[in-house]
Amino acid sequence: MKKTFTRIGVVLLGLFVVAQFFRPERINPPTDPAASVRNYKGIPPEVISKMEAVCFDCHSNETHWPWYSNVTPVNYLIVNDVNSGRRRMNFSEWGNYSPGKVHSLLDNIYDQVYNHEMPLPKYRLLHPAARLTDAEVKMICDWASGEQDRLDQQAEMKSETSDQQKVPHDSTGTKK
Ligand code: HEC
Repeated sequence: MKKTFTRIGVVLLGLFVVAQFFRPERINPPTDPAASVRNYKGIPPEVISKMEAVCFDCHSNETHWPWYSNVTPVNYLIVNDVNSGRRRMNFSEWGNYSPGKVHSLLDNIYDQVYNHEMPLPKYRLLHPAARLTDAEVKMICDWASGEQDRLDQQAEMKSETSDQQKVPHDSTGTKK
């Protein structure tokens, strides 16, 4: 019985060693720093630094790859999270998003952070600093909701000016 266990152990170790030759690509694509959320109008520096610390690893092109991201098969799981995180929302591409897209992302940021769904639980497990305090949750959510209000007002103002342009006015301002 003991022998069988030893054999299984040796086979597993062998598979693990061979698996190390298979590695997913870990890339931080080059990006225009001007498009970063850091340059987003009015974003408080403390919100940026918190999000840099707890969101940027999966939602930016500035991922810090931990040492275990070198180890197969963990690396496949990490690269997968980073790729799908970036695809859904990339803080390095923030400046390239339309106002409508930014609005819906802000809405989702609020929901995800308020409900403690982001950062992902497995990430929080490995990064104790990523466990947000109530005050940090409030700080991010206040920014996200305040920013949505500002975008709403901006859109309203825009539609008002374009309405005015559409209505023909005569020079006296009286209706004919
Ligand atoms: C460990 C990686 C990881 C970290 C860290 C992380 N996320 Fe995510 N996030 C993901 C993944 C993966 C998805 C896509 C989930 C899916 O497809 O169901 C996602 C999705 C989202 C979405 C949905 C985007 C959309 O509208 O489609 C938001 C918003 C979000 N994350 C916000 C955050 C915020 C804010 C932080 C930091 C407080 C954060 N995330 C930290 C991995 C991460």
